[in-house]
Amino acid sequence: MEYMIAPLTPHTGAEVRGLDLNEGVDTETRAALNRAFAEHHVLVIRGQHFTPPQFIAAAQVFGELFQHDKREMHVPGYPQVYYVSNEQTVPGKRYISGETFHTDHSNHPAPPKATMLFPVSLPSYGGDTQYVNMHEAYDDLPAATKERINGLRAVHVYLSKYSPRELRPLSEDSARQVPPPGVHPLVRTHPENGRKALYLNPVRIESIIGMEDEAALGLVAELMEYATQEKYEYRHQWRYGDFVIWDNRSVIHKANPDYDMNERRYLYRLMLKGETPA
Ligand SMILES: [Fe+2]
Repeated sequence: MEYMIAPLTPHTGAEVRGLDLNEGVDTETRAALNRAFAEHHVLVIRGQHFTPPQFIAAAQVFGELFQHDKREMHVPGYPQVYYVSNEQTVPGKRYISGETFHTDHSNHPAPPKATMLFPVSLPSYGGDTQYVNMHEAYDDLPAATKERINGLRAVHVYLSKYSPRELRPLSEDSARQVPPPGVHPLVRTHPENGRKALYLNPVRIESIIGMEDEAALGLVAELMEYATQEKYEYRHQWRYGDFVIWDNRSVIHKANPDYDMNERRYLYRLMLKGETPA
């Protein structure tokens, strides 16, 4: 099968064309895709046509499925496949998940290495997903800041009391299965590409070990402001057929609620198992 991989920005994102994942991939292609994933952090594999089981099979080219926390929310008939939808509500209002920059499920001791989306229904404009590159942001930090944060560890809970936004409450059954908080370094090293990255998540970081809360929040805010500069960004404009996989160890991401909410935005979502950040 002839296919090509081309960068989308100099630092983040690559698109793959000419590959039909439903036909299966050979060992060589699988290795090439996984190398491209570690190098580019976001892969956009164009022109796919997935049913939920085909989406699961495509995801497994990159690893093993990771169970999402909100077990009650899945595609009917497919308990492994989660979805994002603009038709969700919290009591009294519409709820758009992922509206501020974050990394997925960092409250776990071994958070998911990757998340994947596949669009089923898209608004006619808007609803982009933004990614910023946490390797580039770390590399560019002043030496004194690197020294200050190397070795610091943050406590990530399901929902921080300092979170800039609400999460929908978990069912009792799902809540029981949420693991104890993850305690993760602010600077982690990617096990495949060897690069250091900031590991930040204002939605879930409740404290930094050995720091007063106020100082910890100030530090997280300062690093987030630095990391979310436009020069570190790849902004994905969704097209039908895009199978997008991103590396939660390399990028943080956010959704944009900037479209007509009378239009439906609905995507299948899966995650892959990761390692304990180090
Ligand atoms: Fe997310």
